[in-house]
Amino acid sequence: MATSERANFGSKIGIILASAGSAVGLGNIWRFPYLTGEDGGAAFILVYVCCVLFFGVPVMVAEFLIGRRSRANTGQAYDVLAPGTPWKWVGMMGVLAAFLILGYYGVVAGWTLEYTVASASGAFLGAKDFTAYFNDFVSNPWRPVVYMFLFMLLTHVIVVRGVKEGIERCSKVMMPLLLLIICVLVVCSLSLPGAADGLTFLLKPDFSKITGEVLLDAMGQTFFSMSVGMGCLCTYASYFTKDANLMKTAGSVALIDTSVAVLAGFVIFPAVFSVPGLSVDAGPGLVFVTLPNVFHLAFEGMPGLGYVFSLMFYVLLVLATLTSTISLHEVATAYLHERFGFSRRKAAIWVTSICTVLGVLCALSFGVLNGVRLGGMTLFDLSDFLTAKLMLPLGGMFISIFTGWYLDRRIVREEVTNGGRLRIPFFGFYIFLLKYVAPIGIASIFINELIR
Ligand code: PFF
Repeated sequence: MATSERANFGSKIGIILASAGSAVGLGNIWRFPYLTGEDGGAAFILVYVCCVLFFGVPVMVAEFLIGRRSRANTGQAYDVLAPGTPWKWVGMMGVLAAFLILGYYGVVAGWTLEYTVASASGAFLGAKDFTAYFNDFVSNPWRPVVYMFLFMLLTHVIVVRGVKEGIERCSKVMMPLLLLIICVLVVCSLSLPGAADGLTFLLKPDFSKITGEVLLDAMGQTFFSMSVGMGCLCTYASYFTKDANLMKTAGSVALIDTSVAVLAGFVIFPAVFSVPGLSVDAGPGLVFVTLPNVFHLAFEGMPGLGYVFSLMFYVLLVLATLTSTISLHEVATAYLHERFGFSRRKAAIWVTSICTVLGVLCALSFGVLNGVRLGGMTLFDLSDFLTAKLMLPLGGMFISIFTGWYLDRRIVREEVTNGGRLRIPFFGFYIFLLKYVAPIGIASIFINELIR
């Protein structure tokens, strides 16, 4: 259970960068752009930003306060704050979600590593037919598995080093680097001929595109991208210091996360629009098929630039992904470590092994296991659907109900104001969001989809 000598993050900036590192990931640079491409550009972004403000930020603060107050991993935090109640299942669902997400997320993480290696070796841009390149790669029976495993190992090594020496230290190096790279890429992309059409797509909303399904997409994307709804940030917050300002931290993380997603749009759409004939509506293949075509075609006369652009882009993806996989791994590792008394190393070995098995199944679902379907979905699609569209929003709804209705208001106030030392003028509004707006909003989007 929560021990008195639990690890802590060492500084406020470490807290923000580690939490933002968890949030910024494939969700921002891979998932957000392809959903924006499919769901109508600017209109989707507006809906997304509303979800961030009304659901994402309040639930993030709730996770923070549950974690810091209980000083326990998410699997045990509810037992500390509400002993003997069924609320513990909210935490357990979070631990399960961590295993499931890391399993399939690790597969795409492996793709980013392969694309980085291929970009660096120069083999990549010679490929020319990138649809075939991608399909051959993902359906290969061993290459995606090997890269997925390498990524899991990398994650494992960092997590084993601990909260301060592993997670915080890496986040402090990787996050600033990531922000620098994305800014350079935005400038490169905007200077391509034809970039203006991409900007129009991103900035001019077409509201006719907003349907119930788009709302569900935006809501699922909010939870996924901000890493909320499954206790990831609850586990991180159990390592926060007493003087961390929870509201400010949540605001900073939300701002960084949303900015990186929108900046990724500014990198990808102007680039895609600069090559006639390419479609933004490419789904998950957007950054693995469409974008390589851009690197190849837009820079035909200057292959050196294409090389640098593609290498930087995939390194960016690897950095973003790694800071997220370590946070997912930490949720499960902290649980096994504290619940069963395993050493951190042993707990991490269990997590890496289980997630690798799940990852192999998901990786092969693009090839030899493609015929294995549940509800018409491959194992990979099923994991994405179950977690991003169901478990995270449901978790978010329960977390807001727990904090808004169940938890003693005094505890909520004490955590948010750091025992009365901080002035929080919007406290009443915050409680209103948690009690009514988030649960009712999330439930109605669900019901709307179910009765369709
Ligand atoms: N937020 C990460 C991303 O946008 O890629 C994914 C993620 C990490 C989801 C951690 C959930 C989580 F707990």
